[in-house]
Parts: sequence; structure tokens; C-alpha cells
Amino acid sequence: MSQLVDDFGRKYSYLRLSVTDVCNFKCSYCLPDGYKPEGKPSFLRLDEIQRLLRAFASVGTQKVRITGGEPTLRKDFTDIIRAANDTKGIKTIATTTNGYRLETHAKEWFDAGLRRINVSMDSLDPRQFQQITGENKFHQVMRGIDAALEAGFKRIKINAVLLKGLNDNDLPKFLSWLKTRPIDVRFIELMETGLGRDYFQEHHLSGNTIKAKLLAQGWFHQLPQATDGPAINFCHPDHQGRIGLIMPYSKDFCSTCNRLRVSATGKLHLCLFTEAGVVLRDLLQDDNQQQELIERLHQQLHQKKATHDLHHGITGITKHLASIGG
Ligand code: GTP
Ligand code: 5AD
Ligand code: SF4
Repeated sequence: MSQLVDDFGRKYSYLRLSVTDVCNFKCSYCLPDGYKPEGKPSFLRLDEIQRLLRAFASVGTQKVRITGGEPTLRKDFTDIIRAANDTKGIKTIATTTNGYRLETHAKEWFDAGLRRINVSMDSLDPRQFQQITGENKFHQVMRGIDAALEAGFKRIKINAVLLKGLNDNDLPKFLSWLKTRPIDVRFIELMETGLGRDYFQEHHLSGNTIKAKLLAQGWFHQLPQATDGPAINFCHPDHQGRIGLIMPYSKDFCSTCNRLRVSATGKLHLCLFTEAGVVLRDLLQDDNQQQELIERLHQQLHQKKATHDLHHGITGITKHLASIGG
């Protein structure tokens, strides 16, 4: 079966599959009022997920990142990991989580086949963490990260959205934390979403401000590695961990795009910033529909643009990233 390639020659070997829109945190840049469903949501069932993964794997998907909302809120989260692990062709199973169930479940998920974990941790100051996330769970998440290291997860990545006035003074804390831990902390530039226009204007900060501080303190830019994702990484001889910058507002960010997204209700999103999505669920009901599903994926890929609309001054198309899994 031929591999998914777009009109710009980019190949798609990475699927970000959202399994729920529900989240139990209220991050001020994402869901400040918490999760509020419109009507009764109906998220993909395990059998639908299995068919979806089989089709994507047959056209070149090798890595699946299970996202949300908070994906670990799904009662069958471990079964979803197993389903991905049982899909021929899928080599890496990853998840992005707020970390609140890691302490109790890291080992179970590792045993089911999960190998990569990215944890959202916007501040190393417990009070600031609570102010940003709306939850007093700092210590629980920190214990979860240690539990994940113990369970065997390698190179855990921490996501911190860079927020002017909230966590922009946290860099020294993150640097000392990284001294003895083989962890990547990535600062993500705040992206403007439909619900967060005023918030964006107040808190957006360019990743270059962090870059300048790092370079001034002896950190150096590392050559890109296969596992880096969208981040540009910096190292320091005295530190086990690395600092990464995810800068979607920089010019060439999209030129190496390797990812497609499927929402929790089974819509294909060619980019983080395409709100409507294309329905796939009608073709996930029976094993006999695989060929038709694959044809729809190939067809849709012709619609993928060279870059996202944030570069064209069009912002806020996407309501918030919890509905597409970031
Ligand atoms: P890995 O390489 O698998 O570790 O992927 P990742 O770093 O993309 O995964 P993660 O879920 O931790 O993503 C971190 C954040 O980076 C996302 O939530 C987004 O905010 C941002 N991001 C990831 N991929 C894209 C992308 O394709 N476009 C844009 N604009 N932002 C992205
Ligand atoms: N801008 C940048 N990153 C965001 N995330 C959620 N909303 C935004 C936004 N507006 C990130 C979170 C989390 C990931 C799932 O998405 O930090 O790490
Ligand atoms: Fe790919 Fe869209 Fe992300 Fe750019 S913003 S890297 S095109 S998904």
C-alpha cells in the first residue's frame, strides 16, 4: 500500500490520535473554565480505534501519539495502548498527559507497550502551577514523573507553555532540575486560539527570549535528532537534561511536518489549525471498509497546505487545542 505523501513531498509517518476531549485540569491557556461539552460527546470506541490504526499503519504510520483532552481519563486507556501495540507496522506508542495518573499507572502502561511520555508541567513553583492549571496537583505530577522514570520510560519530555508574567522567570528552576535528570523540557510558544485572543495578547512571548538566555549561560544548539519532534534542542556539559524550544511562529516550522491528527470523534485534521476536520467514522464500522478509508486519506492529503494560517495573519480558527490533542 503506498505511503501518505502530500503535494509538497512531505511524508506522514506520525499519527496524533485524540481519544477524548475531556480534561480534568483547567489550564488558563486552554480550558480556563474546564471542559464543557456541547451536547453528549461520543468518542471513538476501541474497535473503531483498532480499524483506524490498521488503516493508517498500512499507509506508513509508524508512530502513534495518544492525546486528548486528558487521554488517561479513558477507562480503556491501557486497552488502547495494547491495540496500538498489536497493530502491525506501528513501532512507537506515545502519549501526552497532564501526568495526574502516572504515579499509579506508569508501570501498567509501560507493560502494555507505551514507550514515550510527554507531560505538561508549566511551572516548577507549586503555587504558580496551581494558578496556571487550576489544580493543586503539582506534587502528585512530580511523583508521577519519577514513577515513570522508574517504570523504564526513557527521555521523558516535559511541556511548558511559555507565558509572559506567569512562568517566564522559571528558567533557573528548570535548569537546576535538569542537572541530574535525563529529561527534555520544551518551552512551547503560546499559540493563539479562538477562545484565547485576549490571553494571547497578554501572555505570548517569543521562544527567542529563552534562546538568548541559554546561549548566554553556555548552552549550545544540538544538531537535530530523530526523536526531537518540532523542538530545537539545547544542551550543556554540566546537565543531563536538555532544553527544547517549540516555536510555531518561526518561519520554517511547517516545512518538516510529519504528522496528521484524528480527533476523538474520528475527524481527520490535516493541521492543528483546521477546525472542521473530515469525517472518517462512517468508514470505521466494518473491516471491509479499510480500502475505502485508505482512499479517503490519500484524497484528503492533497488538501494539506504548506503551512498553518498563523503565518498568514489568520488566527483563532481552532477554539482550543484540547479538541485536537495539541
Ligand atoms: P514528539 O516528537 O512525538 O515528542 O511530539 P511533540 O513534541 O509534537 O508532542 P507533544 O504532544 O508533546 O506536543 C507538544 C506541543 O507542541 C503540542 O501540544 C503543540 O502545542 C505543539 N505542536 C506539536 N506538533 C505541532 C504542530 O504540528 N504544529 C504546531 N503548530 N504545534 C505543534
Ligand atoms: N499554545 C501552545 N500550546 C498549547 N497547548 C495547549 N494549548 C496551547 C496553546 N494555546 C499544549 C499544552 C500541552 C499540549 C497538549 O498542548 O501545553 O503540553
Ligand atoms: Fe504541520 Fe500544521 Fe503543525 Fe505546521 S502547524 S507543523 S502544517 S500540523
